[in-house]
Amino acid sequence: VRRFLLLAHRVPVDGAFTLNDLAGGGGRMDEIARCVSTAFTISNDLRRDTELTLLFGSEPPPRSRRIDIYGARLRLLNPDERSTAALLKNALIRSHNVPGIVESSPGMVVGPSQPLEDLAKFASQRGCWWLVEGGTPLSALPAGADVAAVLSDPTDPTAPEREVLESSGAIRVRVGPRSLRSSQVLDVVQNALDSASEAPPSDPPPG
Ligand SMILES: C[S@@+](CC[C@H](N)C(=O)[O-])C[C@H]1O[C@@H](n2cnc3c(N)ncnc32)[C@H](O)[C@@H]1O
Repeated sequence: VRRFLLLAHRVPVDGAFTLNDLAGGGGRMDEIARCVSTAFTISNDLRRDTELTLLFGSEPPPRSRRIDIYGARLRLLNPDERSTAALLKNALIRSHNVPGIVESSPGMVVGPSQPLEDLAKFASQRGCWWLVEGGTPLSALPAGADVAAVLSDPTDPTAPEREVLESSGAIRVRVGPRSLRSSQVLDVVQNALDSASEAPPSDPPPG
């Protein structure tokens, strides 16, 4: 399973934003929705081997929220950013002031979060990657079938988040020499993992 965790710093945790202003009042929900799209969608299919956790930490507990998206059971996800943002907004609204977890749409589970604790737990998975500019090149690392990786939205991780990541032992990994958008990073990682799992070409027939 490919597990990703995205730190979302500015999205209103109660879903109180309009789909007409995802980048402004939505706290860069445009980019979060693109990340969901690039994590799961491929041409004419969804990636069933992928899970993505979104940590919404613009407000402290008990208001902070997390959305866990499971590719194995995901439905209703279309490739366009606006309808994806609508699914996420609906999840946040359904969870507002609700103490337990709710499956807001098939494969999308929302509930309260202790963001630093949730981040620490995720990052302590064995071999977890911290996707960040200036880490070890992705191409230098072995890529198995099970991968866990943390990345941030257009806002860099906060000081407490960096502390958690540093003390968790997560391996700093860069996907290339340039600072990319979060959604581009996910595209590159998914493609690198696809390529690593591709069967080697068979030997040409003799003669
Ligand atoms: C738009 S970047 C963050 C903002 C950027 N640090 C800046 O100076 O404006 C979004 C996130 O994508 C990831 N990222 C960007 N470029 C990367 C790269 N070359 N390798 C690995 N991760 C990268 C990091 O997690 C980063 O926090």
